[in-house]
Amino acid sequence: MTLAIVASEWANFLLRWTHVIAGIAWIGSSFYFVHLDLSLRKHDGLAQGVGGEAWQVHGGGFYNMVKYIVAPPHLPKELTWFKWEAYATWLSGFALFISLYYTNAELYLIDRTVLDISPMTAIAISLGGLIAGWVVYDLLCKSPLGRNDLLLGIVGFVLLVAVSYGYTKVFSGRGAYVQIGAMIGTIMVASVAMTIIPNQRKIVVDLLAGRTPDPALGAAGKQRSVHNNYLTLPVVFLMISNHYPLAFASRWNWVIIGLVVVIGVTVRHFYNSRHAHKPTPWWTWGVAAAAFIAIVVLSSPATFTGKSASAAPARQVAFADVQEIVISRCSMCHAAEPVWDGVGVPPKGVMLETPAQIREHASAIYVQAAMTHAMPPGGNVTEISDEDRAVLAAWYESGAKTQ
Ligand code: HEC
Repeated sequence: MTLAIVASEWANFLLRWTHVIAGIAWIGSSFYFVHLDLSLRKHDGLAQGVGGEAWQVHGGGFYNMVKYIVAPPHLPKELTWFKWEAYATWLSGFALFISLYYTNAELYLIDRTVLDISPMTAIAISLGGLIAGWVVYDLLCKSPLGRNDLLLGIVGFVLLVAVSYGYTKVFSGRGAYVQIGAMIGTIMVASVAMTIIPNQRKIVVDLLAGRTPDPALGAAGKQRSVHNNYLTLPVVFLMISNHYPLAFASRWNWVIIGLVVVIGVTVRHFYNSRHAHKPTPWWTWGVAAAAFIAIVVLSSPATFTGKSASAAPARQVAFADVQEIVISRCSMCHAAEPVWDGVGVPPKGVMLETPAQIREHASAIYVQAAMTHAMPPGGNVTEISDEDRAVLAAWYESGAKTQ
């Protein structure tokens, strides 16, 4: 293994580690502040300008939290800003996106059987989406529609499903999922960078100048921060979906994205309502469960793109045939020393060279290459035939024997 491969593998790992940690810090503070906001209570005797108070116990002490709406009479000496969690999540995420999906666009972003485009075109379509997503979202929030949260939510949802449909007709299912996740993530971070923080800065400037800040500044920031809270769960689903072809390789992958948004939003609604001490909306779990069952049904084998491999009658196949298929279609990448350009180490540690290795990964081979067409990647770069997929399926279904 050359030094370059070791360096790039570790650089990737480091980026991913940073991304996950920054994301945890960001989501954690987002959950915390939405919870805190909802649990604030108004009562007599609060200081001037205080909109509500909450008591919390954590880490061996009691916290007395008060929120000033819009701002305290004077700027405090020390003020903690919450922005680098968000920025670090986006920066590390974008770097990761480039290092995996843009650098290896043929494998990860493009599916030639969906649309045969060049890596440069794919990257342009991806970048364009990241920017357009934010511009459209921002305009919607600032338009008259932005004053009606429910209507804004419905329009946003319909647009998101339409864009998901569009990207699944341009990219591989896997590429489309990460693209949509990146678009939502970009909207969330841009809200912090372009609306929430600038508005807070204006409020600070007003305070310093002895002016009363405009409540609309705080309200706009609050609206974006609530949107971010509702979008968190779907984004995390999309970001970890790449290991689960049942979701991204289904013909209904774009419908699944819509259902995941429904689940994420209803689950957040449940907790947010409880934190606000409103009547508990138990129905949300019914909706979330129904949406999840619908996802499972939509990802059943019959709904996969291309012909269903397991439709072929289960028959006995010789292991020699299976090995021959795997060696000629998979092991150029899945080997101790891959020979495929751009694949430095066996992807995900999966080596498919010896009978023992093929046997060990039998169920993964079945999921990735027979049930779904997630492998070979890039829309079947090594051109495995449907008959060969059927052989792999029959082998697994008849017990995955190696002699
Ligand atoms: C052109 C290179 C290439 C070829 C050919 C290829 N794969 Fe892969 N495979 C990859 C890459 C890259 C990944 C890692 C994807 C990721 O990062 O999640 C992968 C991942 C996998 C995984 C692990 C999935 C996971 O997320 O845990 C399995 C199993 C797999 N491939 C099976 C196969 C089989 C079976 C074939 C042949 C039919 C095949 N691959 C052909 C590149 C290839």
